[in-house]
Amino acid sequence: MTPVLEVRQLSARYGRVEALHDISLSVADGEFVAVLGPNGAGKSTLMRAIMGLVANSGDVSFCGSALPRQSPDACVARGVVLVPEGRGIFAPMTVAENLELGAYLLNDSVEFERRQARVFNLFPRMRERLDQIAGSLSGGEQQMLAVGRALMADPKILLLDEPSLGLAPKVIDEILHACAPQQGRAAYRSGRAEGAIGASPVQPCLPAFSRPADRRNRSAHDQVP
Ligand SMILES: Nc1ncnc2c1ncn2[C@@H]1O[C@H](COP(=O)(O)OP(=O)(O)OP(=O)(O)O)[C@@H](O)[C@H]1O
Ligand SMILES: [Mg+2]
Repeated sequence: MTPVLEVRQLSARYGRVEALHDISLSVADGEFVAVLGPNGAGKSTLMRAIMGLVANSGDVSFCGSALPRQSPDACVARGVVLVPEGRGIFAPMTVAENLELGAYLLNDSVEFERRQARVFNLFPRMRERLDQIAGSLSGGEQQMLAVGRALMADPKILLLDEPSLGLAPKVIDEILHACAPQQGRAAYRSGRAEGAIGASPVQPCLPAFSRPADRRNRSAHDQVP
């Protein structure tokens, strides 16, 4: 079966510094794959490179066809969406405005309402905080907003970069509940290795955890220079 996401020999650089070297990995339909590595190993760079947010070379294909290598817009349009490390929310704007920006490619008010309702269903607190300035949300709420904003793009695959950093276990659980099926959450909580898991609201996920999670990806871990 064709993998949903296939990364082949992906390298990335910041100026003259190569931060990622020849990484290959694949994500099957419904799979929740974890990328593990110490600080500076290149987990965030891998996600940025998949999205075309950093200069890169190699091949990335999504559902069997190539993703353009330097076009984050095209990735989002195809349904490949990143929740960046540090959340990347627009702090001076309201929760509602942040969610609107997540759906910036959409020009259909009915579909907008449907997506927003789904976010409220997953994170009821976002409905309560709709008019609040995003920068004044708690850390956990900001992470919910970051995931919610990504979901407003209607992703087919979600790239989560350290979604649990600094959050209480209960909040982590709420966020993973939004992104992963039950089996994945259980595996994450117990910290044991786990293989492929079933369907989720946004199909497969590719999180970057810096502690034990579902499936360790050797290529991503071992080939970083
Ligand atoms: N904007 C940048 N300019 C120059 N070098 C960078 C930049 N961003 C990251 N790097 C370098 O690239 C390497 C990989 O960084 P990256 O952020 O991908 O690591 P990481 O695995 O996500 O680490 P962490 O667990 O700390 O988030 C590091 O050596 C880092 O210093
Ligand atoms: Mg990182």
